[in-house]
Amino acid sequence: MKAYKIAAIPGDGIGSEVIAAGVEVLNALALRESSFVFRFDQFDWGGEYYKQHGRMMPEDGRDQIKDHDAILFGSAGHPDIPDHITLWGLRLAICQPFDQYANVRPARLLPGIKSPLSNIDDGELDWVIVRENSEGEYAGVGGRVHQGLPLETATDVSLFTRSGIERIMRFAFKLAQSRPRKLLTVVTKSNAQRHAMVMWDEIAEQIAPEFSDVSWDKMLVDAMAARMVTSPKSIDTVVATNLHADILSDLAAALAGSLGIAPTANLNPEGEFPSMFEPIHGSAFDIMDKGIANPIGTFWSSAMMLEHLGETVAARRLMNAIERVTADQQFHTPDLGGNADTERVTQAVIDAIRGSNN
Ligand code: IPM
Ligand code: MG
Repeated sequence: MKAYKIAAIPGDGIGSEVIAAGVEVLNALALRESSFVFRFDQFDWGGEYYKQHGRMMPEDGRDQIKDHDAILFGSAGHPDIPDHITLWGLRLAICQPFDQYANVRPARLLPGIKSPLSNIDDGELDWVIVRENSEGEYAGVGGRVHQGLPLETATDVSLFTRSGIERIMRFAFKLAQSRPRKLLTVVTKSNAQRHAMVMWDEIAEQIAPEFSDVSWDKMLVDAMAARMVTSPKSIDTVVATNLHADILSDLAAALAGSLGIAPTANLNPEGEFPSMFEPIHGSAFDIMDKGIANPIGTFWSSAMMLEHLGETVAARRLMNAIERVTADQQFHTPDLGGNADTERVTQAVIDAIRGSNN
């Protein structure tokens, strides 16, 4: 029987609660499918590890997980440690060296979930945001000198390469092509950012003919934010830079009902390194240890992991189970206005998996 080796990195805050729930659900799913099993290895990296060892993960951390089939990640972020340290010490320390350059962020209004938008009905918000995940504003290029003096100076330089843009653009066109509407919006800020963003636009023009059945348009990021609110039905697949897509994907998650639901896949599409799957919500220290974290973001991310592993039947079964559960208000956690706890939602998804025919 096939055995998938999964590296589970719960990280900080509610990460351990939602990853534990994800592991339970994935094991229940494997039992139901009975054609594969999961072998989870747990890694205690994150803020607490940092307090003991002065780093977020061990020096050979990546070596420890490079041969796993996938990584299930909770969150990085700790109230006692500056955010740029937790981010660069763990999440980006995995994403960037493992060249997980395609960050895929679906936003879909699931059954039973209410959008703050009044101009859409069920099923009418179904987007995928493709975030460039290896360079751009997150390239880490910059510096700081003369600290504390009046002439203190700091730079954060965005760095874009033709090959980096070409590969994310092809990925996005291909993804758009695989979806029923075959519709892609290429987002930039090429009016103000007159070098790299102009190159984005040019490369989009150059790549588009390879996907002649995909309709595409260009949008400036500020106008795109407005369009997501005023004209949500006109959107399907979106591609944008690291920072622009970071912001748009939070907006998308909120418009789709809750940050607690939204999933992410950090993909190395070529499979040279493991890909990483995580809920978008972050560590949420305010609700940590209360048992009320919404595990749906982790379950949906797990469904994306199954798809990546080629287990499409299992991925569909898990997604169907998730949708059956969200459709029922008694399984809504407080972020959705309900009073269910993590355990209750997890059990409901497991029950739906066990009782499912598809
Ligand atoms: C995300 C998050 C991170 C990011 C934070 C935690 C630095 O907002 O995954 O979208 O900006 O990449
Ligand atoms: Mg974000």
